[in-house]
Amino acid sequence: MTATPDFNDRMLSLGLARVSEAAALASAKLIGRGDEKAADQAAVDAMRTQLNMLDINGVVVIGEGERDEAPMLYIGEEVGTGKGPGVDIALDPLEGTTLTAKDMPNALAVIAMGPRGSMLHAPDVYMEKLAIGPGYATDVVTLDMSPAERVAALAKARNCKMDDITVCVLERPRHQEMIAEIRSTGAAIRLITDGDVAGVMHCAEADVTGIDMYMGEGGAPEGVLAAAALKCMGGQIYGRLLFRNDDERGRAAKAGITELDRIYTRDELVTDDVIFAATGVTDGSLVSGIKREVGYLTAETILMRSKTGSVRRMIYRNPTE
Ligand code: FBP
Repeated sequence: MTATPDFNDRMLSLGLARVSEAAALASAKLIGRGDEKAADQAAVDAMRTQLNMLDINGVVVIGEGERDEAPMLYIGEEVGTGKGPGVDIALDPLEGTTLTAKDMPNALAVIAMGPRGSMLHAPDVYMEKLAIGPGYATDVVTLDMSPAERVAALAKARNCKMDDITVCVLERPRHQEMIAEIRSTGAAIRLITDGDVAGVMHCAEADVTGIDMYMGEGGAPEGVLAAAALKCMGGQIYGRLLFRNDDERGRAAKAGITELDRIYTRDELVTDDVIFAATGVTDGSLVSGIKREVGYLTAETILMRSKTGSVRRMIYRNPTE
């Protein structure tokens, strides 16, 4: 009997970058074409093809949806050649389908990989999220605080005024009260129309992005991907799953989640070493989007490993026919 190979994050990381690059490049021709579905499908197809070339025994734990609603990269789908280590995979081939269709900033192709059993099998429901960058004590802000209390606590920890704090929030009617409360503290708000994986990641590079804290309700799968990113970049994220009806509670039961109001920390969302790759589709503050030059497409990828905290930004130039 042959021993199961270990999760060799160092060797697998370049392969992971190829997977997100392929997804981003495939959706490039659909940037600004107003067709979210086609852009997503192109990214999904390319990501799956590239993922299946990797020597891994992978299972998609965060994917395109349940098996009956997603023909490809569905939750539970086995991916890879089957010859390598057992791994969990969280992916979003196109994070920001609307951003891509409208050619707006910060659309990404995203994937994370860790040893088998290392990622929360988050159902496709909403999650209340709160994130800050590195350098703060644990629990300096918590989900149990009000939005205004979080701003006050972060300002105190940063030794600055509340109006020096910028909070990133998804622009949604459900966030109206929270936005008003944050504004009442004097803090600024960067509203984003979509793409909260990038929203959370912005906190880890506050000096570059100008964003100190992320808060609000977004997709739970995106919460796990964001936790994987912050595990590599540094920073804290807290997530609480939100269930609106029995169907959503049923999804939790199916995923083996019994404690419905539990607050998950970053290291409970992703419990072991993880590698993370995100390639820019449209231009953003973290990475540039796909650039077209005569005869070439160029893609930028941020590739990170939690074991070492290494963050690479790689430019890939790919000839077009
Ligand atoms: P898609 O790329 O699947 O369109 O998701 C974009 C997104 O903005 C996520 O980043 C976010 O978590 C979620 O949608 C928010 O959901 P909703 O649009 O229902 O508020």
